[in-house]
Amino acid sequence: MSTTSRRGAGTLRAEDIDSQVEIHAWVDRRRDLGGLLFFDLRDRSGIAQAVVMPDEQAELYASLSAVRAEWVLRIVGTVAARGEGAVNVDMATGAVEVRVESAEILAESEPLPLDLGEHAGTGEDTRLKYRFLDLRRSSLQSNFLLRHQLTHGIRNYLADHDFLELETPILTRSTPEGARDYLVPSREHRGSFYALPQSPQIFKQLLMVSGFERYYQIARCFRDEDLRADRQPEFTQVDIEMSFIDESTVMSLIEGLFAKIFPLAGIEPPATYPRLSYAEAMARFGSDRPDLRYGLEIVDLSERLGASGFRGFKAAVADGGVVRGFTVPGAGNASRKQVDGWVEVARRHGAAGVLTLRHRDGGLQFQVKNTLTEAEIEGAAADLGIEEGGLALLVAGPAMTAARALGALRQQLAQDYDLIPADKHAFLWVHEFPLMEWDEDQQRFISLHHPFTSPDPRDLERMDSDPGAVRSRAYDVVLNGMELGGGSIRIHRRDMQARVFSLLGIEPEEAESRFGFLLEALRYGAPPHGGIALGLDRIAMVLAGSASIRDVILFPKTASATCLMTEAPSPATQEQLDELGLHVVPEDDPEAT
Ligand code: AMO
Repeated sequence: MSTTSRRGAGTLRAEDIDSQVEIHAWVDRRRDLGGLLFFDLRDRSGIAQAVVMPDEQAELYASLSAVRAEWVLRIVGTVAARGEGAVNVDMATGAVEVRVESAEILAESEPLPLDLGEHAGTGEDTRLKYRFLDLRRSSLQSNFLLRHQLTHGIRNYLADHDFLELETPILTRSTPEGARDYLVPSREHRGSFYALPQSPQIFKQLLMVSGFERYYQIARCFRDEDLRADRQPEFTQVDIEMSFIDESTVMSLIEGLFAKIFPLAGIEPPATYPRLSYAEAMARFGSDRPDLRYGLEIVDLSERLGASGFRGFKAAVADGGVVRGFTVPGAGNASRKQVDGWVEVARRHGAAGVLTLRHRDGGLQFQVKNTLTEAEIEGAAADLGIEEGGLALLVAGPAMTAARALGALRQQLAQDYDLIPADKHAFLWVHEFPLMEWDEDQQRFISLHHPFTSPDPRDLERMDSDPGAVRSRAYDVVLNGMELGGGSIRIHRRDMQARVFSLLGIEPEEAESRFGFLLEALRYGAPPHGGIALGLDRIAMVLAGSASIRDVILFPKTASATCLMTEAPSPATQEQLDELGLHVVPEDDPEAT
């Protein structure tokens, strides 16, 4: 007697022919060809074709005649070879079909409010409103399978490396990662608020003081900041901290981890990654997270052109600034309109403008005629490596402004000229970031990473005289121009932490009230420690080959941080507000009290 086995629809193969199977699945598609009734049955494993023959199975046919797409069925049937000409080589189960013997309708479905076809063009708002249905889409199903494999792989790797998975609080105090906090009002303590963690930063440092030595957490973090394609207000970090280590321990741990997880998507990272200092990354690529899949390297021309007859160059260099540029081979015939577009990009990044040097018709043409000597033009062209048919874009101004503008142009031109190889993956470390930078708006120094980052011991003597020039022990891991993670070696001495707070303009009383418990902890044998946090969603995005972080987050927020499905955020009831002692001032009536 044959036994019936419960099977996933997508698992059926030619080897299963003649076996009896039971399948629980959704109807992906129904086709009634008169003589034959077909159902494509879909579950998480894939799709299989089931068939009912009205002539021979009149009763079964009648019981299924009302079934439509997205109804849920339980069927029992026998796997059979598809008839000649009916084999579908594009489908994993395409050699077989299930001849239905009995069926039960487990649930009916109304017509869906969205089309699940991959290219159906249903608007994103509808997709997000009905996200629970949108998630039936096979592309999204495979993204979340991949995400599961990813977290599973990370947990295994870190457990194998002696890390403990520990959970830190969600209702906590503000953690300084530079974004706005999400606040939760306290009922018991009117007028007081919890902050949701922007990261578990302080807790993980405290865990090192507690002696756990190696901690990790797949940690949910919350940041009220402007959203982009790779940012969500609520996101997940792979958060790691270790004691008694240095930068290279963290870097090799992460390189080893990536060697395990990126092959999930067929990506084989190198065993070790190049390391670029922040200064070098900014000078050569105009970014602290440069995309190294393509060249377009920036060249410094300050010395060569700083004393030239072109006033813009002369003035920039005289003011302590730079003249820099890069060459785009094959862009020598760019139109006026294209150049105007690039000027716009540079202006958005603070540059006054862009100047062009073309190599065309066997000669070199600088945009502003008769301002540079022939020798200057030829020298610059040699520095820039410009050849026939090439175009160089030059920017003059303060070093940081020129770097940022050229970095943005480099990215734009790489896109415009299709210079980004799709199958290449460029991993690198950026390190030696400045410890702090001057913030014009706030008129004080702010941390580039966070205020617990250790200064580079080589720069300690500059801490008071030139704080902006002090490097830190922070590092970022970058892939294809995206920051996948960042971390640092921390300050583990109380006197140094107090000194850095003071340089950041954080008064002792404020430091005590915001981070008193950390300062306290540093009194009692805090080990040297450091760590990193990886953006899990961003890694999942790369693995899934997706351009948007929303494709790898189950219930993502919109660009204005709302959830279209649950309609969060939503107003609180008057009763809740009263209990919390809160009074809401309507946005259009700020004067109201
Ligand atoms: P950092 O702020 O650099 O460091 O964050 C670490 C990584 O988290 C990811 N990330 C985000 N992903 C999606 N949406 C966001 N809004 C978002 N913000 C950050 C990025 C980033 O590289 N506590 C430190 C880490 C440490 O020092 O150990 C921290 O949070 O991939």
